[in-house]
Amino acid sequence: MHVGFIYNIATDELLRERPEMTLRDSDSPETIKVVTQALEAGGHRVTGYNADQKLPAILAQKPFDIAFNIATGVYGESRQTHVPAMLDYLQIPHTGPGVLAEALCHHKPQEKMVFVGNGVPTAPFQLFLRGDELLKPDLQFPLICKLTSEGASMGLDYDSVVHDEAALRKKVAFLLEVYQQGVLVEQYLDGREFTVGVLGHSPAYALPVGELHFGGPLRIRLDEMELDQFEQLKQALGRPDLEMSHMESETRAPADLPPETAARIQQIAVDAFNALGCKDWARVDLRMDSAGQIYVLEVNCGPGIAPDYALPKLAYAAGWSFEQLVNTILNHAIERYPHLSGKDQANRYQHYLGSLTTG
Ligand SMILES: Nc1ncnc2c1ncn2[C@@H]1O[C@H](COP(=O)(O)OP(=O)(O)O)[C@@H](O)[C@H]1O
Ligand SMILES: [Mg+2]
Repeated sequence: MHVGFIYNIATDELLRERPEMTLRDSDSPETIKVVTQALEAGGHRVTGYNADQKLPAILAQKPFDIAFNIATGVYGESRQTHVPAMLDYLQIPHTGPGVLAEALCHHKPQEKMVFVGNGVPTAPFQLFLRGDELLKPDLQFPLICKLTSEGASMGLDYDSVVHDEAALRKKVAFLLEVYQQGVLVEQYLDGREFTVGVLGHSPAYALPVGELHFGGPLRIRLDEMELDQFEQLKQALGRPDLEMSHMESETRAPADLPPETAARIQQIAVDAFNALGCKDWARVDLRMDSAGQIYVLEVNCGPGIAPDYALPKLAYAAGWSFEQLVNTILNHAIERYPHLSGKDQANRYQHYLGSLTTG
């Protein structure tokens, strides 16, 4: 099959324009290379595309059979939905869900409302849009302040966990001002943290559970960018003096858990994936409170897929290779498109045809 591999590259222009978001969102040349090689190892012809503003005109020519999409989009609200929206509009098959699930996964308060409505456990929370809203009485310190619409720990720092009202107001005001988006204030969960890869659709299934191990002063995950991207950032900003902070968390899999606890975590992860309408692949972040109750933090649909990132590590724990993971994701997408999978869907309309021809 001819696979169009769609990703985001950190161009110098974007790095100057909005360095933090560009670095968190973009894919390194190394990741692009290894995913391309993995798809080729699966027997496919692969053409790569940067999801820039030239992409719509290229897609309109329908240049390939199916897209392997890891692009996050560039501008505007719910930017992660833009590439899937274009693909659906042009009837081009692609990995991952359509607009609705992508949009929900990238807006944590709406995502959590879906969890609440579907009985998926998630921590109590409140959305702050102005900063002077009264704190809901069911929230008790410590709380954690997060951005509503960014991933990769953007906006998180050591002062994100707040222990009193003054610290809360200060952090919320800072996030509102700097990032110009709502702030999600959530109950701080003081227990172990897990991450679970979920693959497929009807039914979706879970890879082994991974656990995050923390080395820093606070047990929260703060992200680090890749080395070559950091060098690019220093150049684009003209700041050779910048130093990179060190990674203080690491995912190890499989997690050391009793089998029934691991199975429960996997089931909750699959429930979260299904509640949002995810497809083919995602990575679900979960955390325990101090009593060992499990809560979903978020679902990452289209998670980072560099070979040393969390999702591939979960696949390795299942005995899979990187190539196997990448091609499994692609194959799950192919299965959903009858003209690619060869699975005849005529049966689906049988009852309708029957009602037309009888009588
Ligand atoms: N309610 C919470 N309690 C404790 N730690 C949290 C909580 N929410 C987030 N964190 C920490 O912050 C990290 C990032 O939060 P997350 O909701 O996964 O956002 P993202 O990964 O999209 O930035 C988590 O991996 C976890 O370490
Ligand atoms: Mg996360």
